[in-house]
Amino acid sequence: MKVVLRPLKELDAYSSYHWRNDHRIWAYTGKAPSKNINLEDELAWIRTVLAGQNEKRFAICVGKSAKYIGNVQLTNIAANQAEFHIFIGDKSMHGLGIGSQATVLLLNYSKKFLGLNEIYLYVHKDNIPAINLYKKCGFLFFGYSTENRLKFICKL
Ligand SMILES: CC(C)(COP(=O)(O)OP(=O)(O)OC[C@H]1O[C@@H](n2cnc3c(N)ncnc32)[C@H](O)[C@@H]1OP(=O)(O)O)[C@@H](O)C(=O)NCCC(=O)NCCS
Repeated sequence: MKVVLRPLKELDAYSSYHWRNDHRIWAYTGKAPSKNINLEDELAWIRTVLAGQNEKRFAICVGKSAKYIGNVQLTNIAANQAEFHIFIGDKSMHGLGIGSQATVLLLNYSKKFLGLNEIYLYVHKDNIPAINLYKKCGFLFFGYSTENRLKFICKL
């Protein structure tokens, strides 16, 4: 399936607030919502992060209609490195190779347009789909950052 990335936009909140309330998506992520998220919450969140410095956020879109299904982003962008994050909010789209394509697209963008040479991420030790995805895309295990959290690094 064809995957494209485009900048995240405020209107994406109308899709993404639904995903915030699917606990299966956030079981192993660093920032799971602690309450039910409504549209206003999500709009406020998107406005805040889009105004943020040192981060680049993209919508993952698939198919001919470029349907929005998840987010991929870099945060803590510094001179040479940045932190990577990804989720696919539409669970019916998991396991189709979309996460891999979105990751490779963002890694290529990081090198070509941001001039970065290292991307790192943190992942829960039990998040097997994510760990496999990261290894497949060139991330190498760096070490434990906490008891349950692994750090991976990809050299660009
Ligand atoms: C992690 C996530 C983005 C993976 O996206 P995806 O599109 O399903 O991944 P892909 O289909 O590209 O799979 C990439 C590789 O991951 C592995 N993988 C994917 N789903 C898997 C599963 N359920 N179990 C084990 N391995 C899996 C496979 O090795 C796969 O490569 P292969 O198909 O060539 O064997 C998706 O599961 C997700 O959004 N999870 C919830 C949010 C999350 O945990 N984000 C990461 C936080 S660190």
